[in-house]
Amino acid sequence: MSHFLVAGGAGYIGSNFVKYLMDTSDHEVTLIDNLSTGRMEAVESLKEQYGSRIFFLKSDLGDPEKLHPYLHKRTVDGVFHFGAFSLVGESQYDPMKYYYNNVACTLSLLKIILEHEIRHFVFSSSAAVYGIPEKTPITEAAERKPINHYGKTKTMIEEVMEALSGREDFVYASLRYFNVAGTDEELVVGECHDPETHLIPIAVKTALGLRDHLALFGTDYPTPDGTAVRDYIHVTDLCRAHWAAFEKIRKANEPLTVNLGSARGYSVREVLETVQRVTGSRFRILEEGRRPGDPPVLIASSEKAKKELGWQAERSLEEMVTSAWAWEKKRSEDGLL
Ligand code: UFG
Repeated sequence: MSHFLVAGGAGYIGSNFVKYLMDTSDHEVTLIDNLSTGRMEAVESLKEQYGSRIFFLKSDLGDPEKLHPYLHKRTVDGVFHFGAFSLVGESQYDPMKYYYNNVACTLSLLKIILEHEIRHFVFSSSAAVYGIPEKTPITEAAERKPINHYGKTKTMIEEVMEALSGREDFVYASLRYFNVAGTDEELVVGECHDPETHLIPIAVKTALGLRDHLALFGTDYPTPDGTAVRDYIHVTDLCRAHWAAFEKIRKANEPLTVNLGSARGYSVREVLETVQRVTGSRFRILEEGRRPGDPPVLIASSEKAKKELGWQAERSLEEMVTSAWAWEKKRSEDGLL
């Protein structure tokens, strides 16, 4: 049995990862989260389900005053870092929020874990490091040319990890996520952002009648139906890849940078058709102009993930939408929306 730190463990992907780890192993975790976007409700649901295997430390990401005393008391076998702000639009009008949390606090976290001789670090990077790619599907060899501050923060941390990778006491995996959606089958944790900006949760909320209409941003992209194309990946597939990446760097003792996507693109219209089919709701869609900073097409090559991790995405877009729909309905029935 091992013990892991999960930074940002009360957020959407972090809490789904904790649930995945609890279900597939006998390990323990400490969730570190300052609850600025993470939810205490997710921590409580996890504690209720997994009891004494879950520890919670309310703390900023790299706070030495909280983390040093905690780490002096316990042996930790690896760190999974999900604790970042991740809204592209917000990063453009409040860059300091992004550079401070995603870069400065992550550097502090890295410094602390090195001081405590924790070697293995799994980092949530993003397709946003690629900017507007020259070729599709995007391979990991493509140049990093982020076009927004969010993508720049992820690029900066990748550069720092590369600079550290000569050290014997540090090995990392950088996982470049594409568009993550859906939730765990048992609906223990789920996706809750405030404000919500992502396509699938907004579409299912609109299907539930919580919004009057959905705004479709951009119908003049150079794509078959004129709307932007993205590579959607189910959060549970993504969590499985995190564990595979951890095992890989532990065994190979070498850093790893890999895309996590399905290698399949769906246009916004195709996603909305799927949501309307799954939910049975013909909600209103209003066509609007492009959202600034949105690339036309982002599709991952997943060859490297297959080769290095023996991993590929298994769950379909329909399964992502079905679980997102079930989650929003549950929250609505519980009076939480
Ligand atoms: N969209 C709409 N209407 C909405 C919301 C979104 O038309 O109400 C469109 C967007 O314009 C975009 C597509 O749906 O074309 C997907 O948008 P999301 O906001 O769901 O996701 P993004 O592709 O903008 O970004 C997500 C993550 C980023 C990550 C990126 C990688 O939020 O952190 O995927 O592909 F970098």
